[in-house]
Amino acid sequence: MATMHSGGYDEKKNGRRSADWLERRDLDGFLHRSWLKATGVGDESFRGRPVIGICNSWSELVNCNIHLRGLAEAVKRGVIQAGGFPREFPVMSLGESLMKPTTMLYRNLMAMDVEESIRSYPLDGVILLTGCDKTNPASIMGACSADIPTIVVTGGPMLNGHWRGKELGSCSDCWHYHEELRRGRITEEEFVEIENSMSRSNGHCMTMGTASTMACVTEALGLALPGTAAIPAVDSRRAQSAEAAGRQIVALVERGTRPSDILTPHAFENAIRALHAISGSTNAIIHLIAYAGRVGIELPLSLFDDLCATTPWLVNLKPAGAHLMEDFYYAGGLPAVLAQIGDLLHEDAMTVTGETLGDNLLNVPTEIIDENVIRPRSDPLDAGGSLVVLRGNLCPDGAVMKISAADQRLLAHEGRAVVFEDINDLAERVDDPDLDVDENSVMVLKGAGPVGAPGMPEWGHLPIPAKLLRRGVNDLLRISDARMSGTSYGAVVLHVAPESAVGGPLALVRTGDPIRLDVEARALDMLVDDAELGRRREAWTPPALKDERGYRRLYEDHVLQANEGCDLDFLRGRSAIIMDTVTYL
Ligand code: FES
Repeated sequence: MATMHSGGYDEKKNGRRSADWLERRDLDGFLHRSWLKATGVGDESFRGRPVIGICNSWSELVNCNIHLRGLAEAVKRGVIQAGGFPREFPVMSLGESLMKPTTMLYRNLMAMDVEESIRSYPLDGVILLTGCDKTNPASIMGACSADIPTIVVTGGPMLNGHWRGKELGSCSDCWHYHEELRRGRITEEEFVEIENSMSRSNGHCMTMGTASTMACVTEALGLALPGTAAIPAVDSRRAQSAEAAGRQIVALVERGTRPSDILTPHAFENAIRALHAISGSTNAIIHLIAYAGRVGIELPLSLFDDLCATTPWLVNLKPAGAHLMEDFYYAGGLPAVLAQIGDLLHEDAMTVTGETLGDNLLNVPTEIIDENVIRPRSDPLDAGGSLVVLRGNLCPDGAVMKISAADQRLLAHEGRAVVFEDINDLAERVDDPDLDVDENSVMVLKGAGPVGAPGMPEWGHLPIPAKLLRRGVNDLLRISDARMSGTSYGAVVLHVAPESAVGGPLALVRTGDPIRLDVEARALDMLVDDAELGRRREAWTPPALKDERGYRRLYEDHVLQANEGCDLDFLRGRSAIIMDTVTYL
C-alpha cells in the first residue's frame, strides 16, 4: 500500500529543500534517515547540513571523464570543510569517440537523467562533474530545468600530444594526419605512432574543440569558478579548484542563488563574446540556445552574428590557430581573455562566486603571459570574430560557419553542387575516381540533421575527395545540415535549417546546381529559379523516420531544429519546485 504526501513545497519559505526529507518527524522522516544511515553515515554527518549532490558523469566508456571519480573526492572534501553533506550519484555519460551514431542523439536523454535525479532526491545544491563534449551541456541543461544552486566543475583538458618534435592536438591532428595518410605523405606505421602519441593523459580533447569551448563558455556564463576552464586535467590545481567548488556550493545554497539567477540575457551575451574571442566550436551555438530555452530566454541566431562583428578573435589555438589548451592555461587562460574584452562584457552579471563577473576578474590573475597564445586587444588575430550566421534560399532559418578555420578564398565563392543524398552515399562515392568534382565544386550532404540522421552527427566536415587531395587541394566549400567536430576545420557550412529531412530547401538541391556563398553579405543561395524549386518541392516526399520505438523514436518525433537548440520540444522551460514523497508501507 502506498500513501502520498504532497504539498506545495516552497524552499524560500521552508529553508533547505532536504529538510523536508530528513528533518520531518513522521514515518517518512524515519525511513529517509534510517536508510541513509545504512550507507554508514550518522546523524552528525547530515542533520542540519545542506545536502550537496555530486552529479558524476564518470564512466570507463568515456576516457575524457575517467578521472572524475577522483575529482568527486576533492569536491567532497570541500563540501565537508564548509559544513555540507556530499552525496555523489551517477548519471548517464556520453563518450564522443565510442558512442554511436552520435552523442548528440543522447544529449537530451542525459539532460533528462540529470534533471530528474536532481528533482527527485533531497538535494539543496549540486556540483556537476563534466568533461567530454556533450556531458557538459547535457548536465547544464538538466540543472537549468531543475534550478537548484549549481556549480559546474569541468574535468580539464589532456596534456599536449607530442610526436617526433611536433605537438599533436586531438582531434584536429587526427583529421590532418589522416589526410596526410590518404595523400601518401605518411605511412601506416607513422599513423599508428601518432595514434599512440596523441592522447597521453586524462582529460578532454586539448584543442579548442567543443569540450574546451564549453568549459570556457561555462566559466563566462558564471557557472564555474573563475580561472578553472583551462587547468589541465592532471594538474594538481584542477583538484584544488574542485575542492574550492565544494566549499563554494555550500555558500551558494545559503544564498539561494540558482541557475536562473545567473543565466540572464547579459550572461548569455558574455558567453557569446567569449565564444568569439576564443574562436570556439560551432557546437556551442546549439548548446547555448538550448540552455536559453531551459531558462525561458530567447537567443536568436542573429545575436551570435551581431556580437561576432564586434568581438576580436584573440586565442590562437587549434583548430583555427596554432597552440593547445595546456599552452592556453600557461598563457593566462580565460580570465586573461575576458579582461582584454572587459569593455564588451556585462561585468555586472552574477556568478557562482556570489560576486559579479567584473569582481571575479579583479580577484584572479588576468595578465597575458604569452602573446603568441593569447593576443592583446591591440593585436587581435582578427578584429571581427570568427563565427558567422548565414541566410538565404538554402537556409531560411540559418546556417553557421567558422570562418577562422576556412580557406579565406572560399568565403566568396560560386560553384557547382556535388550532392550526396546521405552519409552512405558519401562513403560510397567520395573517393570514386569518376566522381565529377573539382576544386571549385561545392560538396553538399543531405540527411544529416537532427531528424534525418538522426541526432545531427558531426558529419559536416565532409572528406575532400582523394583525387583532389592528391592534386594538393586542401579545402573545398562543403554544406550540410550536420554539425562538425569542434576540432575540425575548413570552409564548412553547418547547421542548415530547416534540415533536409523535414523539407528544408537543402532537400531540393541537385548535382550541378550553382551555389553561391558570400560571407561578407552573410548569404548562402542556390541559384535555381523559384518555378523549378516549386516543381522539385511538389515531387519531394519526406524520408521515413529511422526508429519505430524507444527513446530514439521520441527524439525523432520531438527534436527541435538547430536554430532552436536541438532540445526536445517538451523539455524547454523549468520544472515547478514541488516535492512529492511516496512511502511504501
Ligand atoms: Fe571527449 Fe574529445 S573525445 S572531448
